[in-house]
Amino acid sequence: MLIDKLRLLDELAAEIKVCPKCRLAETRTQAVPGEGSPTARIMFVGEGPGEKEDLSGRPFIGAAGQFLNSLLAKAEIDRKDVFIANVVKCRPPGNRDPLADEIEACNDYLMAQIAIIEPKIICPLGSPSLRTLLGPDLKISKVRCKVFRKNGILYIPLYHPAAALHRQELQTTLLQDIMVLKELINRDILEEEITDLTPRIGVECAPEKAPEAVQPEAIKAEPVKPAESQTLSLF
Ligand code: URA
Ligand code: SF4
Repeated sequence: MLIDKLRLLDELAAEIKVCPKCRLAETRTQAVPGEGSPTARIMFVGEGPGEKEDLSGRPFIGAAGQFLNSLLAKAEIDRKDVFIANVVKCRPPGNRDPLADEIEACNDYLMAQIAIIEPKIICPLGSPSLRTLLGPDLKISKVRCKVFRKNGILYIPLYHPAAALHRQELQTTLLQDIMVLKELINRDILEEEITDLTPRIGVECAPEKAPEAVQPEAIKAEPVKPAESQTLSLF
């Protein structure tokens, strides 16, 4: 089992290292597939490699990585026991945000890593990762440290460590959130603690009504919002 996961992750990493699927291939020094335990229970997903990561081929080894390491140490989570990856595996030039088509081109690799590792919890770090994994309209400040389920997988979004380096006040929040994560990883998460974001087939369609069955109140009522924004207004 462990050997299978290791082999599959290695094969995937070899593919990523020579991947030509988006323009970031032209400017990278090295692709950064990700690293960690093939049987990790927690998976962290950042945005994309920075300069140090691009030069070394390893994720989160620059300033944001050092800060992530210190958070993990405080929560007594061993970095070797988690898996750390990014939404895009190659550095966007000048550390710009990855573009939508680059994220899409790279998404199969992230999905394959998740499928192989089968973590208990995935932590999107920061907004681009949150939006890629859970939905384009979510705000990290609103949903951080909440537990979501989408398509059978649990997610706990966290601030990106780099954001906390720039905004001092986020450092305490991020540390508290990592402590919550540590607690949740070691116990069963109750159904009522989980917000399910799995798209449900059919909810988008309002039931058809014959015009004569519509009550006058209903005509004056607010227009029905699309299902997605109804879900999001919960936060
Ligand atoms: N920031 C990220 O999002 N990922 C890294 O690997 C390093 C910094
Ligand atoms: Fe391939 Fe992803 Fe790198 Fe683009 S970012 S070249 S899709 S590995």
